[in-house]
Amino acid sequence: MSSDGVTVIAHPLVAHKLTIMRRKDTSTKSFRQLLREIALLLAYEATRDLELTSIEIETPLTTMQAPTLAGKKLVFAPILRAGMGLLEGMLDLVPSARVAHVGLYRDPATLTAIEYYFKAPEDMEDRMVIVLDPMLATANSATAAIERLKQAGAKDVRFVCLLAAPEGVARLRAAHPDVPIITAAIDDHLNDHGYIVPGLGDAGDRIYGTK
Ligand code: URA
Repeated sequence: MSSDGVTVIAHPLVAHKLTIMRRKDTSTKSFRQLLREIALLLAYEATRDLELTSIEIETPLTTMQAPTLAGKKLVFAPILRAGMGLLEGMLDLVPSARVAHVGLYRDPATLTAIEYYFKAPEDMEDRMVIVLDPMLATANSATAAIERLKQAGAKDVRFVCLLAAPEGVARLRAAHPDVPIITAAIDDHLNDHGYIVPGLGDAGDRIYGTK
């Protein structure tokens, strides 16, 4: 994790897959598959500091002290609907994680986040909560989702996205300085409609083949 709380994953496979995802002629099928693949690599980075403890096990040859997770459980919290596109790859890596759903939509006029659904496990305070949204643009949704998850008890929160705008990173860090951000890339800027440039368009539309 970098010192300013923002980690950009520098890996040739991530860079290559992201380039394909950005292309406007990439199919829905390929986009969804690539997002799943990158999500697994983002999950790997986001869970890097999970604590380990040691247990004694028997291998076919001998006994040994072997590392095992110390017990802190995970919750993935996708922001509906585009966040669901990151969920599958995360669950590929951590199949036993719980899932909290945060339903927010962006008011097209004000770009503010409006909540329409929220459901989370009861023991949020004991879990590492990884909030998922492919695009960190204005940060309105991310900020509101994290606020809501903290109200539900979350204390150890991270935010994972595929692409971020510098404006979104700054706003999220200001609103929630305790929440590290993990992303595959930080792009140039936000346009007047709140889209990341150069970006990849509307992530939800590209995942689900809508317009
Ligand atoms: N949401 C998206 O899906 N794309 C953007 O560029 C910004 C927000």
